[in-house]
Amino acid sequence: MPDKTNDSIDWSGKTVLVTGGTGSFGRRFAEKLLCRYKLRKLIILSRDEHKQYDMQQSEVFKNRDELRYFIGDVRDQSRLRMAMRGVDCVVHAAALKHVPAAEYNPFECIRTNVNGAENIVSAAIETGVPKVVALSTDKAVNPINIYGASKLASDKIFVAGNMLAADAPTRFAVVRYGNVLGSRGSIIPLLRQFVAEGRKSLPLTDERMTRFWITLDQGVDFVLSSAGLMRGGEIFVPKVPSMKIVDMMEAIAPGIPNEVIGIRPGEKLHEVLISEDDTAIVLDLGDRYVICPNHDTRIQAFHEKNGATAVGQGFRYASDANDDWLNADRLKALIGEE
Ligand SMILES: NC(=O)c1ccc[n+]([C@@H]2O[C@H](COP(=O)([O-])OP(=O)(O)OC[C@H]3O[C@@H](n4cnc5c(N)ncnc54)[C@H](OP(=O)(O)O)[C@@H]3O)[C@@H](O)[C@H]2O)c1
Repeated sequence: MPDKTNDSIDWSGKTVLVTGGTGSFGRRFAEKLLCRYKLRKLIILSRDEHKQYDMQQSEVFKNRDELRYFIGDVRDQSRLRMAMRGVDCVVHAAALKHVPAAEYNPFECIRTNVNGAENIVSAAIETGVPKVVALSTDKAVNPINIYGASKLASDKIFVAGNMLAADAPTRFAVVRYGNVLGSRGSIIPLLRQFVAEGRKSLPLTDERMTRFWITLDQGVDFVLSSAGLMRGGEIFVPKVPSMKIVDMMEAIAPGIPNEVIGIRPGEKLHEVLISEDDTAIVLDLGDRYVICPNHDTRIQAFHEKNGATAVGQGFRYASDANDDWLNADRLKALIGEE
């Protein structure tokens, strides 16, 4: 089965817009794209001028004439229309993603993650952007928290966007993956902070808890290659390893005892990237799975023609039932790449 990792577009001369461009994903996406291609423009869209200023001043992004810093909110459709004029590809990474914050502020979460998705779809169709790739999360599968539910709604909006576009040239796809190693607010920076503070014990939710893990670099490459593969309406899911949280804690903070605090509200013991309910429309593309849209059988036929195979009845892609597991050495090698 072919590895699709390098199956990406030549972005030279293109104009790309990344929403949430100052976030963990957005900055790494910008860094990689600028390093590999001579873009016409790379537009960073986000709300906070300070994050944009910091990005502008950093060594990596200094003196990059292709960069445009566009203050905007995905809740504001007219601003998005302005930002998207002449854009070849939109990567939608802006989100309100902190689970407890979303639980406490559900209206805000819906406004950013759901209304924001609707605004991106409408603005992209109206301005004729050819490709839009939206980032999703494992928490969108059988969601139990408002963040996951809002991202599920967002996924549905992007898939349906292909029908709404009708004869317009705009096509939408989604990429969905699990926890990002080292991203803002994630477990590894937190564990390192606890170690630096000299904590005598570390909080552990549950000994059995597992998660899917991906590095930021892998996430960026996955978005780029999926943009190359997409025909419209797909949800692309990378094949990634799992690791128990307790094993990760031992790898990052060896010898520090755990204190079991129990699963927090809105948290699952294990995460699922593809549920068994989708089996009939899931194909194996070698290095990834693709959930094909129900509304257009041509998309499934296209990927099958290019070598994708059916996954078989009862297939489910869950972090506790993975056949690929990280151990401490592999984890350290992955973090070393960051
Ligand atoms: N990190 C993970 O573990 C993970 C895993 C799976 C999927 N994802 C998905 O990957 C995407 C990127 O995540 P990330 O880790 O890069 O997040 P992040 O570091 O928190 O960055 C979020 C970005 O979105 C911007 N933003 C937030 N609200 C906005 C709004 N209303 N309008 C415009 N921009 C807004 C933020 O800047 P301002 O605050 O300045 O606007 C920031 O640039 C998200 O869609 C997330 O759901 C993340």
